Amino acid sequence: MKTKLGTTPFIYPIPIVLGGANVHGRPNFCTLGDCGIMGLNPSLVYVSLHRDHYTTEGIVENGTFSVNVPSTDLLAVTDYCGTVSGRDVDKSGLFVVFYGETGTAPMIDECRVNLECRVVHEFSIAHRQVFVGQVAQTYIDEQYVTEQDGRRVVAGLPDLDPIIYALDNRYYRVGPAIGVGYQEGKKYRPQ
Ligand SMILES: Cc1cc2nc3c(=O)[nH]c(=O)nc-3n(C[C@H](O)[C@H](O)[C@H](O)COP(=O)(O)O)c2cc1C
Repeated sequence: MKTKLGTTPFIYPIPIVLGGANVHGRPNFCTLGDCGIMGLNPSLVYVSLHRDHYTTEGIVENGTFSVNVPSTDLLAVTDYCGTVSGRDVDKSGLFVVFYGETGTAPMIDECRVNLECRVVHEFSIAHRQVFVGQVAQTYIDEQYVTEQDGRRVVAGLPDLDPIIYALDNRYYRVGPAIGVGYQEGKKYRPQ
């Protein structure tokens, strides 16, 4: 038997990222669960932010933003970035910041993976501003990339150790791999 949960979009798990933008020339970061991939070729991601967030102002100002993937050792500062606004608290000194090809999307050195994005589309819906970004470049700490048979292979998720969130308002970490994409279905036999 099913019971109704109301309208909560109970899709889980939710990877937690730190969205970054320069606001009036200073880097600012906010915690985001509402971020996702829209396509691989071209490489498109979306971030959905409250229209009043300080970070939103910076994305509009520059037309660029970053998606930084924190690992579990950054849990406290990641949650902090989601509880204070750059309007009230200067978050520019929380991390070592670097810039890439766009020159205006601040990225967090302490995060193992960073995406640098240019806004290619945006729209507002309800109280949200949704930005679609084309990934200009993806950065990863080099110790998480190895060379195997002439190919560059990225470390598995347990090594990257991302922060996972769920709508029970708890943070989690990922478990071990359980299969290989586009392969497991070969074992399936329709009843
Ligand atoms: C776990 C978590 C997830 C969040 N996800 C989002 C989100 O997807 N979109 C959003 O607009 N705000 C989200 N927030 C809230 C913002 O991060 C928060 O309001 C932040 O203070 C905004 O900072 P800013 O004003 O400096 O941009 C989240 C906060 C937390 C703790």
